[in-house]
Amino acid sequence: MKKLVFKPTFVKTKNVRSFEEMMDGLRAADGEGRLGLVWGRAGRGKTRTVQWWAAHNLAVYLRVATVWRTAEGDFLRALCRELKVLDPPARKGAIFAEAVQRLLEEPRPVFIDELEKMPRYFLDLVRDLSDMAAVPVVLIGEEELVSYMKQNRRVWSRTFRQLQFEPIAASEIVLYASDTTGLKVSPAVAKVLLDASGGDIRIVKRDLLRLIDLAAGKGVEEADETLARMAVKAGLTG
Ligand SMILES: Nc1ncnc2c1ncn2[C@@H]1O[C@H](COP(=O)(O)OP(=O)(O)OP(=O)(O)O)[C@@H](O)[C@H]1O
Ligand SMILES: [Mg+2]
Repeated sequence: MKKLVFKPTFVKTKNVRSFEEMMDGLRAADGEGRLGLVWGRAGRGKTRTVQWWAAHNLAVYLRVATVWRTAEGDFLRALCRELKVLDPPARKGAIFAEAVQRLLEEPRPVFIDELEKMPRYFLDLVRDLSDMAAVPVVLIGEEELVSYMKQNRRVWSRTFRQLQFEPIAASEIVLYASDTTGLKVSPAVAKVLLDASGGDIRIVKRDLLRLIDLAAGKGVEEADETLARMAVKAGLTG
């Protein structure tokens, strides 16, 4: 029997395909500032999808750190680092100008993940960046990001595209399990994993890791529903 191990593999889910379409649409309006919005519950693959896209296209990805809450200077410095500005200036205005200059020289989409953790004025900072550099800026976050953006009229009027990430589907879990572990998972087993996870891929992954241990313990290459329920239960009880 072959050894079952977890091998991280990117799966092109429906959310991923919708995201690719969204980016094609955003890029079609080249030459002007515009915003995009990607939102959905935790674990639906937003960050992973954006990072995957950014790795295959010229783009900048920045994940917001909670510690920047009161410091847009830190935020701008981190953005500059992602733009490969080796020695960002000290003053906020100068750092901002440097980031804009970089983007004008080499236009590319900017992804900002988890901006909803920041005070609201950060949205205007992002809008300024998009307007002045004339590049798409895509904000990624959980549900509250939508109202956060809608409440700022200038921001909302520039939001050309929005995409809600849906729960992973049972058929995608079948694919995910076979691509990452080689374990054969029937649609019924996938449904057990789906129901326990609410469509959160992080939880599916956690349960799959348990499932391959249980399958290995029993010496089987195909998990049945009983084994899946045991894995899910073990996941919940720790
Ligand atoms: N398309 C995919 N293919 C394979 N694995 C994926 C995919 N999308 C997500 N995952 C797995 O699910 C985990 C959670 O995904 P991710 O961090 O992107 O969720 P998120 O929607 O950004 O959640 P949060 O709102 O908590 O930040 C990833 O670390 C990765 O292991
Ligand atoms: Mg995320």
